[in-house]
Amino acid sequence: MPTITINNRELEFTEGQTILEVAIDHDIEIPYYCWHPGLSVVAQCRICLAEVWQPNPRNDNKLEPLPKLVPTCQTPASEGMVIHSDSPKAVKNQRSVMELLLINHPVDCPVCDQAGECYLQDYAYRYGRAESRFEEEKIKQPKKDLGGDILLYSDRCIMCTRCVRFTKEVTGTSELMIAGRGAHNEIDVFPGNALDNPLAGNVVDLCPVGALLDKDFLFQQRVWFLTSTPSIDGITASGDNIFVQHNDGAVHRIKPRTNMDVNTWWISDEIRHGWSHIHTETRPLMPHLRGELEAPQADAAEAWQDARDAGLAGLEQGGHIAVMISPMLSCEDAWHLATMARAIDPNAVLALGPVPVDGDDQTFPGGYTIRAEKAPNARGVRRVLAHFGDVIEAPAFEQMLSSDDTIKGVIITGNYPSEWVTPHLTAAIGDERFVLLMDTMATALFERADVFMPAATWVEKAGTFENADNRLQSFEGAIESVQYCKSEAQIALDLQADVEGCTAPVFNDAATRQAMADAGLTAMRDDVHHPIVTQDELESDMDLVQLSVGGQQTSGGCGSGGCGCSGD
Ligand code: SF4
Ligand code: FES
Repeated sequence: MPTITINNRELEFTEGQTILEVAIDHDIEIPYYCWHPGLSVVAQCRICLAEVWQPNPRNDNKLEPLPKLVPTCQTPASEGMVIHSDSPKAVKNQRSVMELLLINHPVDCPVCDQAGECYLQDYAYRYGRAESRFEEEKIKQPKKDLGGDILLYSDRCIMCTRCVRFTKEVTGTSELMIAGRGAHNEIDVFPGNALDNPLAGNVVDLCPVGALLDKDFLFQQRVWFLTSTPSIDGITASGDNIFVQHNDGAVHRIKPRTNMDVNTWWISDEIRHGWSHIHTETRPLMPHLRGELEAPQADAAEAWQDARDAGLAGLEQGGHIAVMISPMLSCEDAWHLATMARAIDPNAVLALGPVPVDGDDQTFPGGYTIRAEKAPNARGVRRVLAHFGDVIEAPAFEQMLSSDDTIKGVIITGNYPSEWVTPHLTAAIGDERFVLLMDTMATALFERADVFMPAATWVEKAGTFENADNRLQSFEGAIESVQYCKSEAQIALDLQADVEGCTAPVFNDAATRQAMADAGLTAMRDDVHHPIVTQDELESDMDLVQLSVGGQQTSGGCGSGGCGCSGD
């Protein structure tokens, strides 16, 4: 492989890579603002400039310096090149660029949402001057509502044009432009336009400073209080990789997690804002019995027990039970529900819940696709149900309910982000049957259900989804289940334990996948993609402390020397 030398390190590279890309691949920091791997290269911010020497074939391949600093984001790496981004000349340029960018910047970090994840802040710390030499009046720029969910604080903008290129190259909507000239130029929408395309929220992630802001997140949290949990889109069939960012048991925002095989760097606004139902005041968080919706349940644990007992009593009326497993649930939920149903009734009917579809898939010029299917795991639930027999789809299930009066009890699962119960389903269920409902919303079936058990949304549990491309991906629980909500898998395990007179095990997604694999669903062990998170993405603000015993350094153990632990 060809090699180049950056800051005295000889590095291999692939033909076509730029110097900056080689540096990033080998964890060498060269500062950059305008470059982004998903956008065209414009070499506009000038902070990535470095000294470059290269062999001159007309002079016996002797190393010769290029006459000027060159942008590493735009210059292809070539065999034998020697690059210095830490030479006095390159560092002087970095300091000059930082000084220029901060001349008109308001330096309002204490009230800026981006503080803590701001490239301007980081590079000012590493490459900037301690004091400003600027004595004139700063140019003041306006704050603008760009429409949709986006605000622009123009005076923080460093004119990297990432946002403009995104709307031109990725969404093809071109709402943004640069207005004005020189120090007075500013980002704006074209007259009469709003920045409200279905991927618009990505410009907030792209903006390296705090100029573009999400109205939803404005002044909500300091970012250093947020914990990022790797997850998967839980409301559409995209399988987009995301981070759920939360603090103190509450979700505050969803950000894209780069996966070049699925969503690259982007997510749709639908996914970005698809968590709002989790913390709505109207979400039912307690178990309920039919007709007791208004009755205050002083002891929730007792109410839960009552509900479970009543549920079992209903299910023991004779005849068959039928279970509708929602495509919003994980494969693990589906597995435990189906296993529990067959434990109660070996002939239990198992069916897939309704799969919402909204129009057609929408693919943007940059390659990103918004899926028309608005459920994350229809394929995964089908895969699990196929293990138990023929897969019955929702319309056939409703038909079956309407005509088969041997079905005495139904277990219905929902977990959709909005109302999903159709009059047709309610009519098919009828008034006579026992209904056990597990859901996250007070839908049209809420009052009809004989027992309602509050379910956990996907951010409150771990599991596996299979996306529209049949890619199985696991996700972690981000927050604890709210109040008395439980995952459908755990509710199923509790019910099955009641039937079998034993103690219910605690749901574990990995153990469930292994159980599925042992039962023949080997894909659940062999084909599941688990989240890969880079160290940068999980950067901790805590220093690793080397403990010592009796003056000697140790790499493990509590270090007290008194408890006898080995440190393993
Ligand atoms: S608003 Fe942000 S992304 Fe757009 S040009 Fe300014 S700094 Fe760059
Ligand atoms: S990152 Fe190279 S010029 Fe901006």
